[in-house]
Amino acid sequence: MTDHFYITTPIYYVNGAPHIGHAYTTIVADALARYHRLKAEEVFFLTGTDEHGLKVQRAAEEKGCTPLELADTNSAEFRRLFEKLELTHDRFIRTTEADHRRTVEWMVKKLLKAGDIYLGEYEGWYSASDEAYYDESEIEDGVAIESGSPVEWVQEKSYFFKLSKYTEPLLKWYADNPTCIAPSARHNEVRSFVESGLRDLSISRTTFDWGIPMPDDPKHVLYVWVDALTNYYTAVGPFTDSHDPSRVKDFWPADVHLIGKDILRFHAVYWPAFLMSAGLPLPKQIFAHGWWLNEGVKMSKSKGNFIDAFDLVEDYELDVLRYYVLREIPLGNDGNFSQARVVERNNAELADNVGNLVNRALTMHGRYLDGEIPATPELSADDDIALRKTALETAKAVDDAISDLEIHRALEQIMALSRETNQYIQTVQPWALHKEGDSERLAETLYCALEAIRFVAVLLSPFVPDASGRILDGLLGDTDGGRDLVSLKTWGGLPVGHTTKKPDVLFDKLEAPPEPAEEAPKAEKPKKEKKAKNEKKEKKKQASQVTFDQVMSVELTVAQILTAEAVEGADRLLKLTADVGEDAPRTVVAGIAKSFSPEELVGLRVAMVTNLKPAKLFGIESQAMILAAKKPDGTMALSRFGEDVPVGTRIS
Ligand code: ME8
Ligand code: MG
Repeated sequence: MTDHFYITTPIYYVNGAPHIGHAYTTIVADALARYHRLKAEEVFFLTGTDEHGLKVQRAAEEKGCTPLELADTNSAEFRRLFEKLELTHDRFIRTTEADHRRTVEWMVKKLLKAGDIYLGEYEGWYSASDEAYYDESEIEDGVAIESGSPVEWVQEKSYFFKLSKYTEPLLKWYADNPTCIAPSARHNEVRSFVESGLRDLSISRTTFDWGIPMPDDPKHVLYVWVDALTNYYTAVGPFTDSHDPSRVKDFWPADVHLIGKDILRFHAVYWPAFLMSAGLPLPKQIFAHGWWLNEGVKMSKSKGNFIDAFDLVEDYELDVLRYYVLREIPLGNDGNFSQARVVERNNAELADNVGNLVNRALTMHGRYLDGEIPATPELSADDDIALRKTALETAKAVDDAISDLEIHRALEQIMALSRETNQYIQTVQPWALHKEGDSERLAETLYCALEAIRFVAVLLSPFVPDASGRILDGLLGDTDGGRDLVSLKTWGGLPVGHTTKKPDVLFDKLEAPPEPAEEAPKAEKPKKEKKAKNEKKEKKKQASQVTFDQVMSVELTVAQILTAEAVEGADRLLKLTADVGEDAPRTVVAGIAKSFSPEELVGLRVAMVTNLKPAKLFGIESQAMILAAKKPDGTMALSRFGEDVPVGTRIS
C-alpha cells in the first residue's frame, strides 16, 4: 500500500505583500513534500491565501478598493512568488472559492448539530491585525502583550462555540500524543494554556460583512479563524470540485500542519476542538517554527524592515536560498537572516564541498575512463567499504532526521558524506593509480566516488533541487532509476557502461557583502609630503620595469589543487599536488601553511608559474610555484579562478 503524506502551510492574509516569513514556511513545506515524494509516497501539499475578515476589509478600505479586489491582487502576488520559488504545492487554495465556502458551511452545521454553538453577546478585546480575542490579562496599554498589536473594545451579539467543553478532551489528546504539538516546548506551552481553563469562543460578528455568512443567520459573518482553519479540510475533503471526493480517506487527517509560532493557539486549541465537535480525526502533528529576524532585528510594519520575498529571489539562486534557510537554523528556533552567512554557507558547503567533489570526480572520470561507468565492483578495500557504510548510514540518518522535521540535521549529514567522499578521493588518489597504470583499482575507486556522489545528490534533491538534478543528469543521463530514496537502500545503483557528463558550474562562489563602515576614513596626508613620495615611487618603478618579452617568458597557468598536506619539520610549508592540464599532476611545495589549512586548498583553481626550474625543499622536489599575495597582517591570499576557467589555461 502506498503511504500518503498531507502537509499544509498557513494560508496567508492578503492585506499585504509576501515577505521572507511567508516564503520560509512554504519552502520548508515544499522541501518536506519533495522528500516524501522521493520516498515514493503519495503527497498532497497545500498552501494558499486567507482572504476574509476585518483585517482584510480594513486594508481594502484604506486602499480604496473592495476586499475582493485586494484579495485578487495580493493572492496573485503570493502565487507569483511561489511560482518564482518553483514550489510544488498541489493546490493553492483561496478562502473565497466556492468549494471552501461549501465546506465551511458544512462544518458549522456539524458543530450546530453537535449542540456546540449558541447565541450570546460578546464583550471584550479584539485585535483586528491578529484577528484574535484577548483577555484583560493579555492586554497592556492598549496592545496585546504577546504580539504588540493594538486592540479595540467590542460589544455585540455573537454566536459562541463551546470551547470550554473541550478542555478535558484536548488535555487527553495532548497527553496521549506527545508529538501532536511540536517542538516539545510548544506542546508544554499549549498544555498549560489549556490547563488554565478555556472560555467559550465567539465565532461570529455583525459589525462588518466580509466573510462567510453564518448558516441560517446571514446578519452574522463567521469569525475568520473558523473559516480559515477549515481550508485544510476543504482541499482534500468531499466538497471540492477538483478531485475524487473519496480522496479524503487517503489524505485526512493531515500529517503536518506547519505554522509559525504566532498562530499556535488557533491550531493547537481551536482547530482540534472544532474537529472533535465535527467528528473528524485530528491532525497527526502541528509543528510551529520560529521567527526570522532581519540582521538581528524583529521585522515589523512600523519598522518597515520586512525582507521582501521577491528581493530574495532576485538576490540569490533558489538552491542557495533554500539551502541557507533550511540549513541555518533548526526548525522551531528563531533565526537571523544574514547576507554574510548566506555567502559563507554557499561558499564553504555548497561550492567548496559538494561542487568541488562533483567537479573533481567527474573530471577524473572523464579523463581517465572516458566517462564510462565501470562494472559495479565487489568491495574489498577498507576505504571502499567504509565509504559504502557511510553512504548507507547517511541515507538512514537523513530519513530519521526528516521524520523528526530536523532538516538542518539532515543537511549536516549529507554534507558530512560529501566531505568524506572528498577525503576518500584524497586517500585513494585516482591520479596516482592512473599514473601507475593500475586500471582495475582506478575503476573501483572512481565507481565508489561516483556512487557516493549519487547518494549525496539524491539526498540533497528535495532541498537543493536544481543542482542535485544537474548532478544526477550528469551521472545518470536518461537512464532509468537511481534517482529516488528507495534506490538508496542499497549501494551500487549506477548504470554500468553509461557515459557520464560533468555538469556546468554547480554553485558560484559569492562575494561577502560589504561590512558596515565602523571607522571614519583616515585623514588625508598633507599634499607636499604626498608629492615627494610619489616622485620616489615613480623612480623606483622605472628602475624595475621589464620588457613584454620578459613577462611572456614566465609561463603562468591556471592550476587546480588536488591534494594538500603538511611537510614534516617545516611548519610554514605545505606539499601540494596540482593539476596543471598535463597528464600527471605536479608536486608543489609552498610556504602558505600559516594561512591555509590543507582542506581548504583542495579543489581551488589558482595561478602557478609552471616553467620555474624545479628545486628541492625538505627533500621534496617542487615543480611549480603558486602565486600568492602577502597581506599587511602577514597572511597570504591566493589569486583564484572559478570553475568556468579550464585547468591548464595560460595566463598572460
Ligand atoms: O496568520 N518568520 O496569516 P499571516 C517566520 N492567515 N515565519 C513568518 C514570519 C517570520 N518573521 N512572519 C510570518 C495568518 N511568518 C493567518 C493564518 S492558517 C489557517 C491562517 C509565516 O499572513 C509563519 O508561517 O499573518 C506565520 O505563521 C505565517 O507566516 C502568518 O501569516
Ligand atoms: Mg500575521
